[in-house]
Amino acid sequence: MQINSFTKEKEWIKSSIEIVQSACNIDGIISIALSGGNTPKPLYQAVAKAKLPFDLIDFFEVDERYVPKDHEDSNTKMIFENLIQNCSPHAFNYFDTSKEIHEALEEYGKLIPTAGFNLSILGIGPDGHTASIFPKSEAIKNEVKYTAHTTTEHFATKDRLTLTFPAILSSKALLVILKGKEKRHLIDEMQNPTKTPTKFPALKLLSHPNLIINFCE
Ligand code: 6PG
Repeated sequence: MQINSFTKEKEWIKSSIEIVQSACNIDGIISIALSGGNTPKPLYQAVAKAKLPFDLIDFFEVDERYVPKDHEDSNTKMIFENLIQNCSPHAFNYFDTSKEIHEALEEYGKLIPTAGFNLSILGIGPDGHTASIFPKSEAIKNEVKYTAHTTTEHFATKDRLTLTFPAILSSKALLVILKGKEKRHLIDEMQNPTKTPTKFPALKLLSHPNLIINFCE
């Protein structure tokens, strides 16, 4: 695990874009999975303006709240507005929340590249959740399926559709982006775990050989 700490947002963004660019240094289609929430917004706005082979990039969602895609809590809406509409990528694949939950999961699961993503961009919530895999979630133990339905009582929208750890860990590279002093304690836990993945699901990411955490105060 590599941890990079920044005091300036623009350096945090520049480093994160360099990681996206290095993930794109391959032949053929590039698959990049994107998390939702608030942290990624300035990064996605900058990615849309970056020098990237957008015509070869298939973007995916790491997770989605089970709301219509024009709802204010929708990750599809956030990603579209901050990135997709400004860069015209080869594809943007998202959970279709107009369908029943299990149909949406099954349909989205079929789109996931069998070779894994080239890069997944993840956040970590204050309780140690990542994607929409929350503490004590059954999804933590899942070692086969690539998508799951989870629920939360503590964050936006109870019902969530999410990639699971098998899908996330199949990525060639993982970039965790954290922003704000209130998230520093998350790095402490990642560096010196005191909990189990059941209590702090993001610890499952530590098994990945190419995990980078970009933190900005
Ligand atoms: C979501 C995200 C989620 C996010 C964390 C951190 O749908 O909310 O995918 O996993 O990365 O909750 O959220 P913030 O970036 O808003 O702190």
